[in-house]
Amino acid sequence: MDRVSGKTVIVTGGARGMGAAFARKLASQGASVVITDVLTEEGKGVAAEIGERAVFLPHDVTDESAWESVVSEAERAFGPVSGLVNNAGIVHVDPIERLAEADYRKVIDVNQVGVFLGMKAVVSSMRRAGGGSIVNISSIGGIIGLPNILGYVASKWAVRGMSKAAAQEFGADGIRVNSVHPGVVATEMTATSERSNSMVHDQPLPRAATPEELANVVLFLISDESAFCTGAEFVADGGYTTK
Ligand SMILES: NC(=O)c1ccc[n+]([C@@H]2O[C@H](COP(=O)([O-])OP(=O)(O)OC[C@H]3O[C@@H](n4cnc5c(N)ncnc54)[C@H](O)[C@@H]3O)[C@@H](O)[C@H]2O)c1
Repeated sequence: MDRVSGKTVIVTGGARGMGAAFARKLASQGASVVITDVLTEEGKGVAAEIGERAVFLPHDVTDESAWESVVSEAERAFGPVSGLVNNAGIVHVDPIERLAEADYRKVIDVNQVGVFLGMKAVVSSMRRAGGGSIVNISSIGGIIGLPNILGYVASKWAVRGMSKAAAQEFGADGIRVNSVHPGVVATEMTATSERSNSMVHDQPLPRAATPEELANVVLFLISDESAFCTGAEFVADGGYTTK
């Protein structure tokens, strides 16, 4: 019940899907969670369901000045930030020849620039907390190539590299940075995707993961149980990338 008690953790994109599962799991193990998302009603609902150890703040991860408010609100509500889960993400499907520059840039902006801004925004608060753990949600698309989602793959490889670079910069402050690489997870992002459904048949564990299974990985990384892990890749993909 108390694997992360006393910690203040920001979860971006926490209104639904994996982010909501991360917020629920962390709160169930004693953390105070600040849920952010562009989906205000859904986000408020998740925070209300969790109760007094959760607040929801409407926030677009691409907005740098709003990141400052999120961190100061989090500190005001629960104390210095000791955990950040950069989870918010989008996907755009198109073959390269038909991929519009604006759609490519949008994916990079949310999935890649949003992660940079989040890490930048929390560092001073994490120093005040005496250290912290940043968990950046990448994908198997950050380990291998996948067709028809070029911006997504580019952004998720970037997240993997940025996590290692940040781990080197922040280590001396006791701030750890790791990337998580899910395979297909059953959320709204994949619900109607034929690609996702067919991908799982080719893997050693031939099914989609549940959001809770990824929440267990995130819980470990936010907790002090992972105290010597930084700059590392945590793959939870049913074995997809063994091929
Ligand atoms: N579902 C999968 O199979 C899968 C696999 C690998 C990685 N991922 C990654 O996991 C993360 C969560 O995905 P999910 O499957 O739960 O998807 P989801 O679409 O259910 O949830 C994503 C959340 O991010 C929010 N969001 C989108 N843009 C935002 C922005 N600019 N600012 C703030 N919030 C924003 C959405 O509103 C949504 O609540 C994403 O980074 C995704 O790329 C998902």
